Parts: sequence; C-alpha cells; structure tokens
Amino acid sequence: MPVAMGDIREIAGQPVFVPLFTLFQAYGEMFVLAIGPKKFVVVSDNDVAKEMLLTQASSFSKGLLSEILEFVMGTGLIPADGETWKIRRRTVVPSLHKKYVASMVDMFGQCGVHGSAQLARSEKAGTVVEMENFYSRLALDIIGKAVFNYDFDSLKKDDPVIKAVYTVLREAEYRSVTFIPYWKVPPLQWLVPRQKACTEALVVVNDTLNMLIERTKKIVEDEDEEFVEEYMSKADPSILNFLIASGDDVTSKQLRDDLMTLLIAGHETTAAVLTWTTYLLATHPEIKARVAAEVDEVCGDRKPTIEDMMNLKFTTRVINESMRLYPQPPVLIRRALEEVTLDGYKIAPGTDFFISVWNLHRNPRLWEDPDTFNPDRFPIDEKMPNEVTENYAYLPFGGGQRKCVGDQFALFESIVTLAMVCRRFDFELDPTKHPNGECGMTTGATIHTVNGLHLKLTRREGAGGAEMTGADTYAVGASLDELDSVDVQAGVPTAGEGSFDEADAEAAKDLKEAAVVAGAKAAGAAAVKSGRGGSKGEDAEVTGERFEEAVKAAEEIIAKEAEAVKAQETVRANNAE
Ligand code: HEM
Repeated sequence: MPVAMGDIREIAGQPVFVPLFTLFQAYGEMFVLAIGPKKFVVVSDNDVAKEMLLTQASSFSKGLLSEILEFVMGTGLIPADGETWKIRRRTVVPSLHKKYVASMVDMFGQCGVHGSAQLARSEKAGTVVEMENFYSRLALDIIGKAVFNYDFDSLKKDDPVIKAVYTVLREAEYRSVTFIPYWKVPPLQWLVPRQKACTEALVVVNDTLNMLIERTKKIVEDEDEEFVEEYMSKADPSILNFLIASGDDVTSKQLRDDLMTLLIAGHETTAAVLTWTTYLLATHPEIKARVAAEVDEVCGDRKPTIEDMMNLKFTTRVINESMRLYPQPPVLIRRALEEVTLDGYKIAPGTDFFISVWNLHRNPRLWEDPDTFNPDRFPIDEKMPNEVTENYAYLPFGGGQRKCVGDQFALFESIVTLAMVCRRFDFELDPTKHPNGECGMTTGATIHTVNGLHLKLTRREGAGGAEMTGADTYAVGASLDELDSVDVQAGVPTAGEGSFDEADAEAAKDLKEAAVVAGAKAAGAAAVKSGRGGSKGEDAEVTGERFEEAVKAAEEIIAKEAEAVKAQETVRANNAE
C-alpha cells in the first residue's frame, strides 16, 4: 500500500480532512499515513468503506474515538463496542420509533417559531445575525426536549447548565484535534485549569441528568401506562421516558452515558448541517429562491407537519446535497480488532483507520463535478439518496450496523428549520465579515466555520407567522451574540462559584495552545498554525520558556508512545513466529 510520510506542517492547524484530501489526490483511494510513530490507513474508496462498515463490520472497533470520548460518553452508543454496544443499540433504537419522530416534528416547529421570533427581532434592529451560534442554540433546545424533556431555553438565555454543556462539548472537540493526549498526563500542571473546568462542568451536567432521571422515574410511576410497541407518554414523550418505562434494567451511569451520547450526537451534527446548508443557500440565491417557492406552496406560514415532509422534496434534496459537500463528521474512525483483508491488502490487528467521508463525497471517480453544489444531482422523483442507493459513495449518516440512529429525526429537524427560515427571510452573507464570500473551515467532531456565519436578513414580503409581529419575541435588548446569564431555573444545580470561569478557560486555552504547538514541533514542524483553543483558526502565539517546556513534555509523550508501538509490534512479530 502507498505510504504518505505525513508532513506535520500540512496536518497541523488545519482541519484534518483537508490535508487528507490532498494526500488522497497524490496517493490514491487507500494509503498509509505515517505521522511520527503513528500510522493510519486512510480510506477514500467506496467498496472498502462498504467492507469496513457492512460486510466486515464486526472486525472493527471505534478505537481512537472511544479513547477520545470516553471521558464524556463513557459506554454510550457512539464509543461503545462489543457486547455493551449490542445491548445498548437494541435498547435505544426502539425509542426513536415512527410515532415519536412524527410527534417531534411538531416540537421542531414550535422551536422554529421561537427561533424565527429571535431572528425577526435582530432583523428589525438591523443587526447582522451569527447563524452558527443561532443554530447551535436552536439544536440544543430541540435535543434537550427530545432526549430528556428538558428546556434549555438557550435561545433566550445562558445559564450554568448550558455553560457546562458547552464546556464539555468544547473539551471533546479540543481532544479530537490535539496531537498529544495531554489529558492523560496529570503532572502537566499547566493544563490543570482546563481539566478542572471540564471536570467541574461534567459534575454540573451529571447532576442535571441525575435530577432528570429521578424526575422521569416519578412521571413514569405516576402515569402507570402500559408499555406497548411505539410507547409514548403523553406527559413526557422523551427518549428518557421511553427507556425508563421499558423497564430497561440499567445503572444510572449507563443511562447518563446514553443520554449524554444522544445529546452530543444530536446537537453538533444537526447544527453544523443547518449552518452549512444556510451558507450554501446564501451563496446560491437561485437555489434559495427555489426552496422558498416550494415552502410557500407546501406550507406557507404554518409550522410544517409530518405530511409536509414528503412534499418538501426540493428542500430535502438541498439538505442531501449539503451533507454531501459538508459531511458531519467528515471522517469516521475505526480500529481493526483482528487481521483483515481489504482491497487485497492484509492489514494487522490494531491498525487505525480514517474513512474519509469528505474524500468519498468529493471523489471525482464517484461524482460528476464533485465540488459543485447541485441539489438536482439527486432528482426529486427518485429515491432519497443514502448509502445503499449510492453504493457507499454517500455516507452522511454512516452505514451498516453502526449507522446513525437519529437519521430520520435529524433530517426532519433540518427540513422544518430550514423551511421556516427560508419562508420568512431572505438572506445574504455580510460582506464585511466574509469579504471573499467564504467562511473558512475548522473542525472538532464536525466542521465549524472559522469565525461564524454572519448573515444580513430581510423579511420576505407578506411571509411569516404570528411570531413575526413581535408578540412572541423575547425581551428586547441583547442580540443573539450578547445573551446574558439570567435566572437559573429552580431545581437545576448551579455551577460552583469560581469554577470553569472565563479566566480559567482562557488560561487553559493558552496552555492547550502550547500543547498543540509542542506536539507539532516535536513531530518535526518548523512552524504551525494551530487553531487557538482547537476550534477557531488563529496564528499560534506560544513562545519562550513555556513553549520549550511544552515541547519537552510532548517529546517525552511521543517517545513513550513510540516505545509502546514498538513493544506491540514485537509482541505481534513473536506471535506470528
Ligand atoms: C444531521 C444530523 C446527524 C448527522 C449528520 C449524523 C451522523 C452520524 C454518523 C455519520 C454516524 C456514524 C458514525 C460512525 O459510523 O462512526 C452517526 C452515529 C450515531 N448517531 Fe447520528 N447524526 C445526526 C444526528 C443524530 C441525532 C439527532 C441523533 C440522536 C437523537 C444521533 C445519534 C447517533 C448515535 C447514537 C450514533 C451511534 C450509533 C451506533 O454506533 O450504534 N445522530 N451519526
């Protein structure tokens, strides 16, 4: 297999899928990427992806991903492997049944009404709206209600629970883009503030989840409804209620892991899909006009219904095509549990893989004009594209046994939200924030913009529900970017004074910066652009004594890892003999 000796300068400071695309063009659809002591097989071939996700799926685990996410998802569905995964999948999948998803469509519409009111307020005030932030908050409100019937109300306010959730989410992202696993090395004192912040945020989140579990147990007891197929409580249609009512005999820790997994999986991904779809529409006005015309005809000002989902065909194709160009996540991670043969190559157990969905979705062998945004490539009178119709060249929700459990939910959420925004507003990029018509890409688990998606909104003439009159808008004052911390809801645990405060978080960002830069430097880079804090791209600014200290620490870690890899190889060689 071709071997790419990864130049760390190409990898550092960019979202990893970008250099992987350049390497794919040079080395082909399957190659080994060697970075320092680490080796990855990078896959951009649909047949190999199919083997890994479908035919030989049980020979692979989530590997690195489980290591990265263990601190927050424990043994939740995404990182879990083996028996635990099997049991949890069997338990969680039935909770997302047809009746549940249909009832969620109405809730998406209600959240869309609140969201539109917020946007209308900004539009009236003439302020530019940062849509990535907006969609992130909207998706958090939706997933909170859907998974555990909790109203984060984050479109309206910031409270310690929301802050804690974001602290944890950002930490998961930092870890996904860091070269060295600094969180595994407690003596690195300069990283303690960041770890402390995360640990404390996790306590807040876990306390909240425990509170919600207790509350739901009480609702289930009081309701005493028979648990039948497609069970759904009237008082509380959440997934948590379903799991408890099903009599699922599980520890609170496992239940928390599942809830946390669903919260993260369902939040970041959908927010990212909506952000990039909106960006594509803002830069393709003729397609935006076609979406608006379809929405005008199918549902007008009312909230879209489950029946409308079948008729908003072009809107759906726009989302399908947006997920091709901006897949969330852009890379799937796997590790071989045993020796596997792929495309004729025998590959040793323990090998780490990146299935680059980004590359698959832009592979010119598989797609005509792959970089062009063209929703008509998926005709509306044909079946909706998925991994099967496209023979694993299209994997927006993965495929095989580990396919997304929330695909239908997420698609409907995206359709409803996009339809409501496009019905009510015309929009374009703010040229002062996006002078080149671009908004740059950076990653954690999903693709983020570099500095947000800033849109100028205009009310579409004659369009809009009651919420657009201002009756349903929130208190006038703060713009979306300046939400204040307001009342903490009764019963919700608050974050302790002085914990994960801004100063701590800021300090931790600098130290994290040192770790990222040091990791790159130790691996041979002369200069790096590391993406301060791991999510927003700015030039690295770490110099002097602390930099040297960080480099030394990173070198030690990398040397240790190299030793471990060597030891593993020796064991393997001995076993083979
Ligand atoms: C547009 C939004 C979404 C996208 C693009 C998306 C994408 C994906 C992808 C690509 C995978 C496969 C990962 C892999 O094979 O390594 C996945 C798995 C998963 N997703 Fe989603 N997802 C979305 C929304 C949701 C929602 C709303 C939920 C829950 C309510 C959810 C829950 C999950 C879970 C639990 C898994 C793990 C399944 C398993 O390993 O058995 N996702 N998602």
